[in-house]
Amino acid sequence: MTDTATPLRIVHLSDLHFGAQHPGAADVLLAAVHALAPTLTLITGDLTQRARNSQFVAARAFFDALPGDWLAVPGNHDMPLFRPWHRLFTPRGRYHRHIGDPTASRLDWPDLRLTLLDSTDRLAWRAGRLRPEDADRAAHWLAQAAPGQLRMAAAHHPFASRQRGNKGGMSGARHARRVLIDDGGVDVLLWGHLHRTETLLLEGEGKRHAIGIGVGSPTSSRHPADGFFFHQVDITHDTVQLTVLRRLGHEPHFHPFAHHRYVRDSAGWRAM
Ligand SMILES: [Fe+2]
Ligand SMILES: [Fe+2]
Repeated sequence: MTDTATPLRIVHLSDLHFGAQHPGAADVLLAAVHALAPTLTLITGDLTQRARNSQFVAARAFFDALPGDWLAVPGNHDMPLFRPWHRLFTPRGRYHRHIGDPTASRLDWPDLRLTLLDSTDRLAWRAGRLRPEDADRAAHWLAQAAPGQLRMAAAHHPFASRQRGNKGGMSGARHARRVLIDDGGVDVLLWGHLHRTETLLLEGEGKRHAIGIGVGSPTSSRHPADGFFFHQVDITHDTVQLTVLRRLGHEPHFHPFAHHRYVRDSAGWRAM
């Protein structure tokens, strides 16, 4: 695929937190996604606030109302926090029942090879952990992409972040970056969890780069004054065009708030 190819449109959502949403936020979001008509909607975790059945049912109904295909991966809030027995022995039971197998999220289209990684950990509930064997397996699969496929990986917890502290990155992030970028040749890494939008150009330990994109929450009632966010990501093999959409609490609709464009040339990815 070249620059002149029709881009593939992906909508990236995260941290929907069904059970703790700003009133009406899910309906506004659904209308906004329909208006963009993406081929694929990716949801990087924290579908629910407390992993309750009713919250998963609401999340699943929302996904089934989306246009196009959707893929999701769990976040820390999708495991029980206050029921230690469930958290230890069946941490992903409800996710599995209502949403699907959290370990089977892959997509192999002519212009996109995508893997979603489950970064939740019952013992590292908040910070998350990406198991080295999962990152290695994902890198191996991405390395076998066809020449025309953009390579993408996504998880709930950040692969990297400008922010320090216990929400600044998951355990295993460094290893994951190294194998996914250097061995897997990943082009784009996506995450949520921080409830904050950020874009970074990430380096492996060789000369390769990958585009890192974290997205805020479009619905969470936690910080309504900061606004609600989601991303439109239009991709070809050699371009990634990110549009950040924002809605303030008193506004009826989302609006384009910022644009970031990345282009691949012989030296790799660079921001325009
Ligand atoms: Fe969250
Ligand atoms: Fe989270």
